[in-house]
Amino acid sequence: MQQAYSFDDLLLVPKYSDIKSRSEVDISNELGGAIKLSLPVVSSPMDTVTESAMIHAMDERGALGIAHRYNTIEEQSDIVARAASSGAKNIAAAVGMTGDFLERSVSLVAAGANVLCVDVAHGHHSVMERCLKTLKDKFSEQTHVMAGNVATVEAYEFLSSLGADSVRVGIGGGSICSTRIVTGHGVPTLQSVFDCAKSSHSAKIIADGGIKTTGDMVKALAAGADFVMIGSMLAGTTETPGEVFTSADGKKYKVYRGMASHAAQKNWRGKSSTPEGISTTVPYRGDVGLILDDIDGGIRSGFSYSGCRNIKELWSRSQFIVQTSAGQSESNTHILWRNK
Ligand code: XMP
Repeated sequence: MQQAYSFDDLLLVPKYSDIKSRSEVDISNELGGAIKLSLPVVSSPMDTVTESAMIHAMDERGALGIAHRYNTIEEQSDIVARAASSGAKNIAAAVGMTGDFLERSVSLVAAGANVLCVDVAHGHHSVMERCLKTLKDKFSEQTHVMAGNVATVEAYEFLSSLGADSVRVGIGGGSICSTRIVTGHGVPTLQSVFDCAKSSHSAKIIADGGIKTTGDMVKALAAGADFVMIGSMLAGTTETPGEVFTSADGKKYKVYRGMASHAAQKNWRGKSSTPEGISTTVPYRGDVGLILDDIDGGIRSGFSYSGCRNIKELWSRSQFIVQTSAGQSESNTHILWRNK
């Protein structure tokens, strides 16, 4: 049976470096066409992560935000239009693979979206064929089509063959996911990235689910991802949708929830089927700009530890090793545990 590695199983081996400053490192990457991201990070299309304010903040930093699809066509188009009138250059918006997806896509592109994301839990699905063909026929090359999610190279090649320009890779790894618990299915996200990166297909790989730190981001990129998608690392910031509330002890929180959670399903469908995600609260963390600063610096530093000035060098030079459980303990800030 194949062994599958997740982020905490592996480390990158530091390499000889002649990089004197993080500013010498170029972490940009091309999503395709005219879209180049100077920060290779995408925010999840979730109703507690991305609406106009997050799209604007991500775009300002050269990253990308995807407007979630858990609303009416008019509401989502308004989110996109507000991001466009705030001056955002790149705007992504999610659609489903059935129902109103075409009408929704037409409205979103008219409102200013230049990336459509077919946002499905299990993207290796027959219905994707009609959906992706319809979108690729309808829109010009100017509209980038992202699709997912997938966990295997077969599924990645399936979506890429149907015309997907980029593919979200990762099933069941998200911090709020319960898909693996409920269904018994999934592949550790980092392993999925390794597998998909071996393909000769050129659809861009977006590592999605379970990224907790900038170290995980660097590992995902080194494993062959072009971009990383994050939900929990942005949750709780000012730019996420939802209210800040104060608990009895005076601490501030925001909600972060899986889109297949009971709470999210009830909100957008009025009823819930078996949930495959959870809803939780996370501490309020202020403006996302400071977090994006740390992400930018952390990724740059990661490249420099591998002695790499850009992503192509990282793909060819980086070296992974497996760490034991003692190694994993050592890799954490272990004084915090020792003093407990
Ligand atoms: P992180 O770890 O960044 O993961 O918080 C965000 C990603 O999780 C996925 N997602 C879900 N997966 N049930 C799932 O199994 C859900 O309810 C759910 N909601 C979001 C999605 O890929 C997102 O980018």
